[in-house]
Amino acid sequence: MTQPETSLMTRLTALCKRRGFVYPASEIYGGLNGFWDFGPLGVQLKNNLRDAWWHDMVECPPMGPDGKPLSIVGVDTAIIQHPQTWVSSGHVGGFSDPMRKCGGCGHFVRGDHLWDILAKECAWMDSLLQEFTPVTGGIDSPRLLKWARSKGKKLAPNLALVKNPEVTLSFLATRINGQPDAPPEMMEMVRYLATEQLHQTGLQDPCPLCGAPLGEEVAFTLMFESHTGIEKSNSSKVYLRPETAQGIFLEYKNIIDTSRVKPPFGVAQVGKAFRNEVTPRNFIFRTREFEQMEMEFFCPPEDGMMWYEFWVNERLRWWEAQGVKKENLFRHVIGDADRAFYSAATSDIEYLYPFTAPNFGELEGVAYRTDHDLKNHQTHSKVNLEYIDQENGNRRYIPHVVEPAAGLTRGMLVLLCEAYRYDESRASPEWLKLKPSLAPIKLGIFPLVNKDGMPEIAEKLYLDLRRSYTCQYDAKQSIGKRYARMDEAGTPFCITVDGETLKDQAVTIRDRDTAQQERVALDKVRAYLAERF
Ligand code: GAP
Repeated sequence: MTQPETSLMTRLTALCKRRGFVYPASEIYGGLNGFWDFGPLGVQLKNNLRDAWWHDMVECPPMGPDGKPLSIVGVDTAIIQHPQTWVSSGHVGGFSDPMRKCGGCGHFVRGDHLWDILAKECAWMDSLLQEFTPVTGGIDSPRLLKWARSKGKKLAPNLALVKNPEVTLSFLATRINGQPDAPPEMMEMVRYLATEQLHQTGLQDPCPLCGAPLGEEVAFTLMFESHTGIEKSNSSKVYLRPETAQGIFLEYKNIIDTSRVKPPFGVAQVGKAFRNEVTPRNFIFRTREFEQMEMEFFCPPEDGMMWYEFWVNERLRWWEAQGVKKENLFRHVIGDADRAFYSAATSDIEYLYPFTAPNFGELEGVAYRTDHDLKNHQTHSKVNLEYIDQENGNRRYIPHVVEPAAGLTRGMLVLLCEAYRYDESRASPEWLKLKPSLAPIKLGIFPLVNKDGMPEIAEKLYLDLRRSYTCQYDAKQSIGKRYARMDEAGTPFCITVDGETLKDQAVTIRDRDTAQQERVALDKVRAYLAERF
């Protein structure tokens, strides 16, 4: 099957816009980077994923290792909380990215991503490396000079090698030719090429966009700030929550006091979170406003690692149950150096996104947060958050927490990537193979033609079935076009009332995946659907 030339993400983004899944926010004003709106099909798909998570976490949680159902309750806490919340959680002061500003073009780069960007995404670096393969004992100055005066000028106008080629090259030659047996690493050479004569004493890191030296790292906070009340001052400052989790910790004591829960138990929440991401990108993968589905599982300290393993496996299984192929999911155990300081163990559940392939990218994090959050809130609020275990001699302890934290909007992207199909032999080459229970529209209901008694039967069927399924009634255009539209929306079944229906009291049901049609008696339609959903 020939595939179109445009990238899968470009096609998926276009399909999402065309069919009303996702639109760029504020589009009529030119858009706003990092913000997206969900259209009629998008909000339905997102709600279906949210509802599946809520059902499987809160209404019908999994069985625990003892074979009994787990106890998990839900909350919906305020987006804006007391600002001290974010001091205690470590977000104020700690939740920041190390940023470096380019002295040439003013572009900001994440300090900890710089060399990844240079190695993977930087056009001038790529071009330069093609010209320049360091040879032990020397460098090919004429080739580099030629590059600097042609391609380099366009690609990296501020690179020292481009601005001042002779001086930079003679400087580089002295360094490399002076120590022919031990030439510096490739990356170090690039830093030489960015280094101007003026700065010979120190290597400069080059800007991926223009090549000019980057400035020192500064901490850039990801927290969105706002103010409450009339006067804006430091004391009126509040934050939009960067995660839903902290609202759960703040309500932990109320929940213990008012519900019949005792450790081990979980508290789940779905809602918006906000992060002023430096580089929002990849459609709805990394945005500045997004939704999370988080659950904090409170347990006795000695059981923390056991529950951590339990939830990693459970969450992998759950994503598979939503129709994500096992081979497209990956458990990434985060190493000691990369883990948040409060976490005793973290695994990311990763997905093979088209834009990360052949690598995987994060979909959900499962972190063993120990007693970090409750302990800090206890210290700062001076409210005792210990649990008193009356069944065990009034043992007092601060529960440990295991947190499966998934992105709802990112999860929706995973469903769309996973469902996207391209098949030129179909009426709509692009179609979505969504799991039927998650599909935004479950049934398309059509009269074959808009006359001869067909619309009346189709409308009656529609009015009956829409009480149980999200249905769309459509009487316009050819039947082929209507099937194609439903395939693009990921609708699993279409029901057509035709000329025969009046005679045989049966309809045609078309299956999205096989495009096969079956004749089903009108009074058997409900049973047919119940079996398939
Ligand atoms: N309470 C823990 C926490 O917030 P996280 O790994 O920062 O952990 C959890 O976020 C999940 O939220 C991520 O795995 C991802 O799916 C989603 N997420 C985080 N930042 C996001 C962003 N800027 N845009 C979309 N989704 C995001």
